[in-house]
Amino acid sequence: MHDEHKDPDVPTGPGKRHDFDRVIDRSATSSAKWNKYHSDVLPFWVADMDFAAPGFILDAIRERIDHGVLGYTETPPELIDAVLTWLSDSFGWEVSPLWLVWLPGVVPGFNLACRAAGSPGDSVMMSVPVYHPFLPAPGHGGRRSIEVPLILDGNEWVMDFDAMAAAASADTRLFMLCNPHNPTGRSYRLEELEALANFCLRRNMLICADEIHCGLLLDEHLQHLPIAALSKDIEAHTITLMAPTKSYNTPGLSCAFAVIPDARLRRRFIEARAGLLPGIGPLAYLAAQAAYQDESDWLPHLRHYLAGNRDLLEAHIARLPGVSMTHVEATYLAWLDVRALPVASVPQHFESHGIGLSDGNQFRGPGHMRFNFGCPRDTLIHGIARLEAAVSALGA
Ligand SMILES: Cc1ncc(COP(=O)(O)O)c(C=O)c1O
Repeated sequence: MHDEHKDPDVPTGPGKRHDFDRVIDRSATSSAKWNKYHSDVLPFWVADMDFAAPGFILDAIRERIDHGVLGYTETPPELIDAVLTWLSDSFGWEVSPLWLVWLPGVVPGFNLACRAAGSPGDSVMMSVPVYHPFLPAPGHGGRRSIEVPLILDGNEWVMDFDAMAAAASADTRLFMLCNPHNPTGRSYRLEELEALANFCLRRNMLICADEIHCGLLLDEHLQHLPIAALSKDIEAHTITLMAPTKSYNTPGLSCAFAVIPDARLRRRFIEARAGLLPGIGPLAYLAAQAAYQDESDWLPHLRHYLAGNRDLLEAHIARLPGVSMTHVEATYLAWLDVRALPVASVPQHFESHGIGLSDGNQFRGPGHMRFNFGCPRDTLIHGIARLEAAVSALGA
């Protein structure tokens, strides 16, 4: 560990409660992240972190395994209570248990939302770049996709309401929102969310809000705002998707939920799901329950550690010729602008220097790369050194 990068406020090191510095070898776990490349390439791509899940989640799973029988499982009432309390305490959002629809993932959730809104042939709008499974979702449901580029306003990616107004048509039934935003790391402010809600309500468009990263706001002055919680009218037009799996780093334990206050919309959503989705497994439910019942300081410490990683990455990128990044307000994903690098394929060039990032083209962000900094600081330091070597090899 490079001591100058240690964070005095975060307890680290062997035996400490939140050992985010511990490097865990994932090579024998069929990890999608670590299996993608040969062993010489450090992976900073897919959105899972290299940290162990918190002990209270692992204990809950262990206890269930010790019971021995892992049968089909109903949603535990304690989980429902925990989610409703968490929504109320965190966001002042009072949600009825009737509004919840449990899902084995957020990705199926926004695909179902596309099928629940309007009819085949209608259109669905989204901002790009965006988390890449958004892109084919309208088409999967027989809807047309309208992709409107975000624009860079100073250091912030913002929605382009003029372009959205020009692109919308009478058959545009749904806006797919990603907030906090993957891949730019934006946390949309109240005025932006209100402007989006007005835009949608005026056109009788529904909103599907993927808020899976809502627990990962890295700047203390920011607060996540579920768009549905802004007013009763917006609530009635919105499908909100949430999950504990990003905040608590359990993405392999698929468990998510939709909040759909409007009964008719909820029925359409549930009908679209019919027969297609598996139930949620007992371990995933229990992990989710432990997460939503969490009153420990694990998550604040994680956010603090991630903010330290972000600051380190930002400081290095600021000195790197040909590469820039916008400030990451939320998530553990940095969106790098590499358009100035004089090389035909930046992803290939980086990989040849031992660093695996996500290619921005995947997200409709050509000339950009996404860097997942959800890893121990030592791993990040190695990655940054490789990135710097790759850039300096270009003589940029
Ligand atoms: C914005 C966003 N939505 C959804 C997901 C995946 O959700 P799930 O694994 O619950 O399908 C991710 C994972 O990276 C994500 O970043």
